[in-house]
Amino acid sequence: MDEHEPIAVIGTGYVGLVTAAGFAQLGTEVWCVDVDTDKIERLRRGEIPIYEPGLEECVARNRERLHFCTELAPALEHARLLFVAVGTPPTYSGDADLSAVHAVVGAMPSSERHALVMKSTVPVGTGNSIKRALSERGKNGFAYVSCPEFLKEGSALEDFMAPDRVVVGDDGDWAGDAAVALYAPLKAPLVRTDIASAEMIKLAANAFLATKISFINEIANVCEETGADVLEVARGMGLDHRIGTHFLRPGIGFGGSCFPKDVSALKQLAGNSGYHFQLLTAVIEVNELQKRRVVGKLQKHLGSLVGRKVALLGLAFKANTDDMREASSLVLAARLHADGAAVSAYDPVAEEQARELLVGVQFADSALGALDRADACVLVTEWPEFGQLDWREVRARMAGRLVVDGRNFISPRDVQAAGLTYEGIGRVACKR
Ligand SMILES: NC(=O)c1ccc[n+]([C@@H]2O[C@H](COP(=O)([O-])OP(=O)(O)OC[C@H]3O[C@@H](n4cnc5c(N)ncnc54)[C@H](O)[C@@H]3O)[C@@H](O)[C@H]2O)c1
Repeated sequence: MDEHEPIAVIGTGYVGLVTAAGFAQLGTEVWCVDVDTDKIERLRRGEIPIYEPGLEECVARNRERLHFCTELAPALEHARLLFVAVGTPPTYSGDADLSAVHAVVGAMPSSERHALVMKSTVPVGTGNSIKRALSERGKNGFAYVSCPEFLKEGSALEDFMAPDRVVVGDDGDWAGDAAVALYAPLKAPLVRTDIASAEMIKLAANAFLATKISFINEIANVCEETGADVLEVARGMGLDHRIGTHFLRPGIGFGGSCFPKDVSALKQLAGNSGYHFQLLTAVIEVNELQKRRVVGKLQKHLGSLVGRKVALLGLAFKANTDDMREASSLVLAARLHADGAAVSAYDPVAEEQARELLVGVQFADSALGALDRADACVLVTEWPEFGQLDWREVRARMAGRLVVDGRNFISPRDVQAAGLTYEGIGRVACKR
């Protein structure tokens, strides 16, 4: 397969649309398929259904190479490699819900010409069981490649164009070679391996990053008890190359569409295979408790929260995305309501998504609007504009004085200079 042969991408969400736009930018024609007719209509009109920096421009630049459809037929006609980027959300049991993946597999025709290239994050063993299922249905010729995705929402296009590595798990046939050739222009380190190992690389990588976050969150909590400043501690730890600085930022817990579900899926996968993955049980529990710790900080300063107004700055699970899946703000708002507080909120891009999920929250169209007459402010998402707030103006707007910085994002000195009380995460000792 030459690198400009057309490909198909099935599922045009965060991963699918970025993958399609990225390959189109590299000169490949891409047939994008989604069951969501509204989404496809919007994409045909040039509207981008998600917030992802640079994506709208990239799709517009490559319009003539991007085709959007709701049917598989045109994709099967034009492309041999069919990238699958459908959702694999968690089920009630914590396992991955593979119904969308199975729907795609079930719709495949008998073909020796095509290959499924799995971008969706799936449990280890999924690829081999899909191959078995295809062969039982007489579709032996269908090739299969595991090609897990590592992009981060908020910098997804950059991550596509300059990945740390490309992982291709296959049976050593034409499809694996074709996937490798497609990614070759990116000149990224390649890990070519078997299908099960590729699937495990993705789950293990996310579980490790989540472990780093829960670890530094626990260190932050101990810092609060012992008088150390966790930012100093993280800096001192991270300069050790064996540890590294990334993912050593304490906060109010990890959320998003990947870490919580992938950690839980790996834990369940291990359990289903007879192994008790104790470390991941703790990683999940620490994360859940971390999301709730902010409530304790509010109570420490305000006492009972009944009738108090708490303003949440930011709702998305992190900055530069509108993704609300598993966002810490969801847990926090629910806990505050349960404790009798009134909750106001502002997010520069995620309000539309948040409105569907956060019942009873009063939405404002600016940070200052949310802070009006608030007893306390909680910074939930590290949107750059919150770093520019005039804290004297905030002080004048608020009824109370408490600012809880759930991301250690703002300057304690600026906040304190405005006559407000600063509470970070793991920073009781901070003077700066
Ligand atoms: N979002 C991330 O940051 C990220 C990063 C790496 C890996 N992943 C993994 O990639 C996968 C996709 O994640 P996402 O965030 O892009 O999901 P998403 O929910 O944003 O998008 C999934 C898309 O698939 C479509 N779809 C569902 N069933 C379909 C079908 N049968 N045929 C065609 N389209 C169908 C949906 O309509 C939706 O548009 C998941 O397995 C996820 O774990 C996500």
